[in-house]
Amino acid sequence: MGVKDTLIEKYIGGPNIVFLNGPDWKRHRKIANPAFHRAFPVRLFGNLTQTMFKVLDEGDVDVMDVFTRLALDAIGTAGFGFNFNALLDKHNEWVDGYNQVKEGMIKPFYIFFPVFDTKLVHWFPKRQQAHKSLDNFLKMMDTIIINKRQVIQEKKANNIEDNEKDLLTLMIESEMNEEDGAVMSNEELKGGHDTTAFTLACAVYEFARNPDIQEKARQEVISILGDEPEDVLPTVEQTKQMTYLNQVMKETLRLHNPLIATTSRTATADCEIGGVFIPKGTLLDLDIYNLHRNPACWKNPESFDPDRYAPGGEAERQPGSGLAWVPFSNGGRQCIGMNFSLAQQRVVLSMLLRKYSFEQPEKSIHKDGIQKRGVAFGIISIDDMKINFKRRY
Ligand code: HEM
Repeated sequence: MGVKDTLIEKYIGGPNIVFLNGPDWKRHRKIANPAFHRAFPVRLFGNLTQTMFKVLDEGDVDVMDVFTRLALDAIGTAGFGFNFNALLDKHNEWVDGYNQVKEGMIKPFYIFFPVFDTKLVHWFPKRQQAHKSLDNFLKMMDTIIINKRQVIQEKKANNIEDNEKDLLTLMIESEMNEEDGAVMSNEELKGGHDTTAFTLACAVYEFARNPDIQEKARQEVISILGDEPEDVLPTVEQTKQMTYLNQVMKETLRLHNPLIATTSRTATADCEIGGVFIPKGTLLDLDIYNLHRNPACWKNPESFDPDRYAPGGEAERQPGSGLAWVPFSNGGRQCIGMNFSLAQQRVVLSMLLRKYSFEQPEKSIHKDGIQKRGVAFGIISIDDMKINFKRRY
């Protein structure tokens, strides 16, 4: 993937589930699957949400910033047992280093002129610093992986409840049954937290713009978790009962799908899709953004309406009529982290709804719709999404 020794290649270069195909992809997916098909660590998500409350109480909240920090701590801890501590210390060594790498990867100058990212990188001290941060980070990941392997081999991890075990531990356990190991990749780390943070920010944004929807979701949560003036960490069973909240999350993922398209794929044989002939060798992308706004599939596609997913609503399609809601793609290459992300969203949003009400500030630049900064690696970026959080207890 890319030119050797560039920042991007070092970060997502090795065998990576997102870019692999055929038998190699199958092997990686098989190892990762068990870790992602289970109950998720809702207690951990709940504890992190409580930590986030401290940040919200400081005021002047940019939800993209806060949720990105929350989701980084969540994927770090739930992913491989490493807490970046981004929520409480947003400029510590790991967070700054990680952000430098993330920002550095999308700089077009180095993508188009890789020589300045490799042989001549010493001309650019800031870039060199990003490389150093990445080297440290990868070293830290390697140490964690080696330590975990040891712990698991010595069977020390056996007394931890399965749903509170981190993904990496589960992947190593699963990998031990395979001859060729391949555990959690950096792309899983990056893809897993930016997308969830984006969805959470947009959900709170829509709640702030639609007070009726906000109140209806709050009443549902209160009916399940009660309205005592104290934090309640929901259980998996309780989150499953939050059907209206689930509808809001689905509508958020339709109108504000974090990934605008899938990676390009090549047709390996002549085929037909929806009556269109696709010759072998054609490059295909799934344009999620426009499919979710296609008036042939959705009534008033630009309006935010969670009732589309109510029983009997328009989202209930007849078999064979095609898929119109695919924020996580579908089929064999469907997002492996889908349930992880949805579980996290249910915990965070339900706890937020009980503790706060949300409003858009008068001067928000997003008053009349989200202002997008751009798209990097298929993920939309947004700046300055301020929300006022008013405590209910
Ligand atoms: C709202 C949150 C998320 C959205 C909307 C999302 C969306 C997607 C989409 C559309 C794909 C298909 C990409 C393609 O075919 O090119 C995908 C794949 C993937 N996602 Fe996610 N994702 C989310 C969260 C996560 C999380 C939390 C993780 C990890 C913890 C994750 C890990 C992955 C991986 C590893 C793949 C590649 C799977 C494969 O090719 O077998 N994602 N995601």
